[in-house]
Amino acid sequence: MLLFTSITLAIAGHLHAIPTTMSQHSQENPIEDSIYVKRQEWHARPPLETKPLSTPVPYVVIHHSYIPPACKNLVECSYAMRAMQSMHIDQNKWWDIGYNFAVGSDGKAYEGRGFTILGAHAKHFNTHSIGICLIGNWNDTLPPSHQLEKTKALIQYGVDQGFIREDYKLVGHRQVRPTECPGQTLYDHISTWPHFDGTLDLATNFVEDEVKPKLIFSH
Ligand SMILES: *[C@@H]1O[C@H](CO)[C@@H](O)[C@H](O)[C@H]1NC(C)=O
Ligand SMILES: [Zn+2]
Repeated sequence: MLLFTSITLAIAGHLHAIPTTMSQHSQENPIEDSIYVKRQEWHARPPLETKPLSTPVPYVVIHHSYIPPACKNLVECSYAMRAMQSMHIDQNKWWDIGYNFAVGSDGKAYEGRGFTILGAHAKHFNTHSIGICLIGNWNDTLPPSHQLEKTKALIQYGVDQGFIREDYKLVGHRQVRPTECPGQTLYDHISTWPHFDGTLDLATNFVEDEVKPKLIFSH
């Protein structure tokens, strides 16, 4: 049984691309060493259903949560994750929390649907993107720098692991749907990031009723 558990852990570690040395090292610092906080760590409900996401994706879509507000530690951020998941499942009738990932003001990333499962965060873009939510309302204030840095590191990790295209384009939710998300201040900030695609906006992406995407995705 112990052997089986070790093998299972080794396989799980491999899937998440965590070197075995890191698993041993994680005895000292279990949370800081992980790339992101896993679903079981924030006590996620199981998804009702899943569909695989075809990777590498050409887009990363940035969101803010607006509600719940910014969270500053593992307990608060885990609570925020569960609140968003419940809202998305019970009210929106989605299969799971919509985002692929979220990032807290504690500087940690939280696993939503992950890199390999289709998200529900930006209609018409879900099949071609990873959706990352910066937990909090970032209309009037900028997230703390470690929240922004963790977001960049998570994207780079996704590129390194082959889930996100190297020449990916970064957009804010408002560029693909009529919404204020990810908030004016955060949107202004991400528009300075190297992969930001300022050419994409609602006018070019949608016709009339804003439900027909004009954009042709290229792989
Ligand atoms: C967000 O900020 C803009 C101005 O920067 C303002 O016009 C808008 O009303 C704000 N939205 C909310 C929901 O506070
Ligand atoms: Zn959004």
